[in-house]
Amino acid sequence: MGGRSNSSYAALQERLRQAPAVWLITGVAGFIGSNLLETLLKLDQKVIGLDNFSTGFEHNLDEVKGLVDEAQWNNFRFIQGDIRNPEDCARACSGVDYVLHEAALGSVPRSVEDPALTNENNIDGFLNMLIAARDAGVKRFVYAASSSTYGDHPDLPKVEDKIGNPLSPYAVTKLVNELYARVFARTYGFKTIGLRYFNIFGRRQDPDGAYAAVIPKWFAALIKGEPLYINGDGSTSRDFCYIDNCVQANLLAAAAQDDAALDQVYNVAYGERTSLNELFGLIRERVVAKYPAAADTQPVYRDFRVGDVKHSLADISKSRELLGYAPEFSVEAGLDQAAVWYLQNLVD
Ligand SMILES: NC(=O)c1ccc[n+]([C@@H]2O[C@H](COP(=O)([O-])OP(=O)(O)OC[C@H]3O[C@@H](n4cnc5c(N)ncnc54)[C@H](O)[C@@H]3O)[C@@H](O)[C@H]2O)c1
Repeated sequence: MGGRSNSSYAALQERLRQAPAVWLITGVAGFIGSNLLETLLKLDQKVIGLDNFSTGFEHNLDEVKGLVDEAQWNNFRFIQGDIRNPEDCARACSGVDYVLHEAALGSVPRSVEDPALTNENNIDGFLNMLIAARDAGVKRFVYAASSSTYGDHPDLPKVEDKIGNPLSPYAVTKLVNELYARVFARTYGFKTIGLRYFNIFGRRQDPDGAYAAVIPKWFAALIKGEPLYINGDGSTSRDFCYIDNCVQANLLAAAAQDDAALDQVYNVAYGERTSLNELFGLIRERVVAKYPAAADTQPVYRDFRVGDVKHSLADISKSRELLGYAPEFSVEAGLDQAAVWYLQNLVD
């Protein structure tokens, strides 16, 4: 069930335990943010969290509270605030060593429906956070970039310096984040690290709502016996990456010292491609263990979605070389873990 271990990550965790730092996680009540929180608190770090609960949940924070001890939970300070408000950003960054900036409105279809709202949160909010972090003199600013930045570039696997045209408003916002980050290095000497996430999945990823990601949505549909849709013919493929690999990349990026590793963007993925048809089989197999009736569920195929890319696969050699990233969980090992959580937390 578990993954392979990465010795440089293990050494970093030990160093952090010996010398705790102050971290700010924006979007802390969301999927990735709450997982970063869980790991950092378990390493006895001091954490400030900022969130406006637009797509995140108090119950994610409550779950983390139940997974750490009281002293560790007391190391957490939550600020309910908005990255669109520069004062909230400044307050959150005060006294912070490392910023992990996750707050944004995710989802390609949401951005197609409301590009202005996505722009406000993902570009204005990002710029506010960059300014606040620069002014507070934080040691490192690590931010959530996205594989959507590869847009229509045809090459597979995706290599960081070859990007195409964005295919959605969401992709534009994530590209603009990278441009701002680069300009802040050039004009203010403020060097950041961007992590281009490729379809991250795992515990606490929201299965509900029109903009839910495919893995939680399918776990929920199979558990509840609801219709399950595949956009396109199912040959569409993604580089699905388990959340613990993503947490690892964030901590390694925050700790990066080598100048060559800074002012860069990195792919965060597992480095393998899974088609939607294969993914369906892998998830169904795991749900059937507890809900045998799920064996009869067949996907309903429907139109391919505007703004989506057909195939996605990352080359993770740059992250390996410059950050020491070595993903510990394969897609299947990650799905085993995710299944445990969804089978416990979703009821039919
Ligand atoms: N999950 C993925 O596969 C994936 C892939 C690529 C990039 N990303 C990026 O990773 C980051 C985290 O994504 P996630 O999957 O955890 O999504 P999520 O929706 O679960 O988390 C985002 C969090 O940010 C908060 N937030 C949004 N706007 C805010 C604002 N204006 N002020 C304060 N808080 C705000 C939300 O309430 C939520 O808690 C996002 O930047 C997203 O674009 C995620």
